Amino acid sequence: MASSPVRFGVLGTGRITRRLVADLQSTPGVEVSAIASRTAERARWAADSHGIPAAVSGYDALLARDDVDAVYIALPPSLHHQWTLAACRAGKHVLCEKPVALTAAEVVEMIAAADRANVRFLDATAWLHHERTAQFRQWLSTATPPPDVATAAAKQDELFLDEQPPADPAIPFRVGPLRHVSAAVSFPNPFQSGDHRLAADLGGGVLLDLGWYAAGMIRFAHGGLPEQVYATAVMRDGIDVRVSATMRFPDAATATLSCGFDTTTRKWCEIAGQDASIVCDDFTRPWADKPARSWVHEASGKVHTFVPPSETQTDSTGAGQSQPGTRCHQEREMIARLADWIRIDTAAESVTPWQEFHDQAVQTQMLLDALAASIDAATPIDLAERV
Ligand SMILES: NC(=O)c1ccc[n+]([C@@H]2O[C@H](COP(=O)([O-])OP(=O)(O)OC[C@H]3O[C@@H](n4cnc5c(N)ncnc54)[C@H](OP(=O)(O)O)[C@@H]3O)[C@@H](O)[C@H]2O)c1
Repeated sequence: MASSPVRFGVLGTGRITRRLVADLQSTPGVEVSAIASRTAERARWAADSHGIPAAVSGYDALLARDDVDAVYIALPPSLHHQWTLAACRAGKHVLCEKPVALTAAEVVEMIAAADRANVRFLDATAWLHHERTAQFRQWLSTATPPPDVATAAAKQDELFLDEQPPADPAIPFRVGPLRHVSAAVSFPNPFQSGDHRLAADLGGGVLLDLGWYAAGMIRFAHGGLPEQVYATAVMRDGIDVRVSATMRFPDAATATLSCGFDTTTRKWCEIAGQDASIVCDDFTRPWADKPARSWVHEASGKVHTFVPPSETQTDSTGAGQSQPGTRCHQEREMIARLADWIRIDTAAESVTPWQEFHDQAVQTQMLLDALAASIDAATPIDLAERV
């Protein structure tokens, strides 16, 4: 028997809801039953625009509804903590926009509140749910040297010159020990005055808004936190509009981050191992109308181009051409994953499937905290001293 749909209520009626509400509505097993605004007029307008049954005046009123199982929090960053805690108290599951909160301490509290209330919490960082990201994860598994190589770790030159077979035959290259990650995310001046991105009291600034993606990629690729970071910011009207940072990890891997509200559109990363580097020019969201793709450059100069399996299918005319298939839709994948977590009985599981996403969210925010502290102090920051 099919399980009943997960019914979402939406908090906020801003720009992101234009896209995400449609994604919620088009995810199998998910419905949007209500949308709330601070004003009744705007709630009515949003409900009518999106074909949502209930227009609700006030966020508290939405949390009190029986026809809402989960909420999508699409509010400015400074309000994520407060409304996640309120949603958990009301027994609602939470999908919360990025950046999750203003500080890592807030993120920890939000996750703890969800755990206490036995509701699910997920941040809406959709790129983590793309099929291509799963490929990155698999490729990065080759970043750990095989055991025989590990014993020869001191002989790095030999290691490099050796033609080591791939650790996993399904992966035709080996990344080798991780050396450097760089991530850059920017959009040129896209915001009108009054936008929360330009308001310090609402959690504005490019570090939180776009640095969330770049720091998230660095944490994802390395799997841990750096021991030291140094960041600088270009400020305008009290808001960081461009940030660049360098960082060093305990294993001597390094990383650079760049984000900006005044720089051309960039959403790229490079994950460089000793033996190969993974390059992706649109990791946060595939360029519109283009298949998601990425490249691996080997030390020998050999280049592999990858398109995730769902992005192509064989032309039914038999001409052998590759055509866009049912493209991976990262937002729907994310929503479906949360809906699955809401449905499953986890009592028997020792490690919950959401733990890795919670760790990623907390550590991304810890990294942003350290970068902000470095900007404020105009000096490198040792993370070990902050934990
Ligand atoms: N826009 C995007 O492409 C995008 C992409 C990814 C993530 N996000 C994230 O989604 C969240 C919302 O972004 P957005 O672009 O949708 O913002 P937005 O257009 O400014 O909308 C935010 C909504 O929050 C509500 N709100 C409540 N208190 C507010 C206050 N004091 N000031 C302003 N708005 C207030 C408003 O809805 P009511 O007045 O109707 O209550 C408003 O429509 C942010 O965390 C952002 O980082 C946005």
